Amino acid sequence: MLLILQLLLLLTLTIRTDGYDWFRVADCITSSSDLKAVEFIDTYFFIKAPYVRFNSTVGKYVGLTEYGLKTAEYWNKFYLQKEIDELERVCKPNLQMDYSNILDKSVKPRVELMSEQSASAGHPAMLMCSAYGFYPKTIDVYWLKDGKKVTSDMVSIEEMADGDWYYQVHSHLEYTPTSGEKISCVVEHISSKEPLIYHWDGSLPESERNKIAIGTSGLALGIILSAAGFIYYKKKSSGRNLVPS
Ligand SMILES: *[C@@H]1O[C@H](CO)[C@@H](O)[C@H](O)[C@H]1NC(C)=O
Repeated sequence: MLLILQLLLLLTLTIRTDGYDWFRVADCITSSSDLKAVEFIDTYFFIKAPYVRFNSTVGKYVGLTEYGLKTAEYWNKFYLQKEIDELERVCKPNLQMDYSNILDKSVKPRVELMSEQSASAGHPAMLMCSAYGFYPKTIDVYWLKDGKKVTSDMVSIEEMADGDWYYQVHSHLEYTPTSGEKISCVVEHISSKEPLIYHWDGSLPESERNKIAIGTSGLALGIILSAAGFIYYKKKSSGRNLVPS
């Protein structure tokens, strides 16, 4: 897994009255946690245009505009060492901290398997396997039909960033149910050594099972209440009979 990490340090100086904007963006870029190859890029902007940039691989400032060229020449004489030192002073400790606190961590997905559409005349069934709240982003979600990987174009997948470092993914399988067939959704993610396998219980989709459960409870409640009502009525009426008229 190639991971490009950018640490963004943003310094901004705005000259308020007439709205000029000078700012500086410092990026620490690496692709591996050993931090052997870290690049520090420090770019200076005036209004929206970058005019001078320090690139640690190049080892000096490079001008990007006419004014930037002059700036680079001057800064390379007087400020270069300070900029070179930023790689060790800023980038490496911060990247180290990010790796040990965030990037090396993983969070296991919560998986739900459900039927989006049960088979009816002319329409195949549609299953959805969703994995929620996992980190990092790389994940493999696939389907097994009687133990064999489904590779047809009957599968579609959507990936989404939750915006809070977690991700979710939804895989849809379109299939025509046949009796005795076993369908499973498999999720492979770095957070778990073994693949996570979820078997589809083809009998009834969960929403249908819920409807039946609610209906059954309602029926039971109805029977209990009417029985209670009947007993109460019986007691009342027999009690009334005891009073001599
Ligand atoms: C920094 O310089 C190296 C070497 O010239 C180059 O490969 C790299 O793309 C540069 N990085 C940026 C962000 O310009």
